[in-house]
Amino acid sequence: MRKIVLALCAFVLLAGVAFAAGSQNNQELAKKGSNLFNTKGCTACHTIGHGKLIGPDLKGVTKLRSTKWLTSWLQDTTKMLHTDKTAQALEKHYGLAMPKQDLTAQQITELIAFFKANDQGKK
Ligand code: HEC
Repeated sequence: MRKIVLALCAFVLLAGVAFAAGSQNNQELAKKGSNLFNTKGCTACHTIGHGKLIGPDLKGVTKLRSTKWLTSWLQDTTKMLHTDKTAQALEKHYGLAMPKQDLTAQQITELIAFFKANDQGKK
């Protein structure tokens, strides 16, 4: 019995540590994403929560689009504008194609973590 209790305690502790490490990680990713957003020229066309500029306000974008869609979009807007109905509808609405961005896979992960952090707990 004691061993089981001990094993359970160890498990809870480890799970707690893993969880804390995970959220720390997300915070760090989001912070890097925030820096990218402000330095990669995104702010010339987008705000987050301050309305439309040349492109859409990106507040709530992770509620509107899946991570997969956002990843594909940030990887290659040109390709998406040729193949994806949502992207085409956006382009029609905004009257401009978002230029293809020069982003690494890691940077895309960071940007999406940043968008998610902004959308957390909000509808
Ligand atoms: C020259 C202006 C411009 C720049 C710079 C730009 N975007 Fe965009 N973005 C747009 C436009 C316009 C759209 C709407 C789709 C279209 O018309 O191509 C869009 C769409 C998006 C969307 C999808 C929004 C939705 O509602 O689904 C995301 C996400 C996005 N941009 C992120 C970024 C990020 C991140 C950067 C910087 C790395 C960036 N954009 C730089 C103009 C821009």
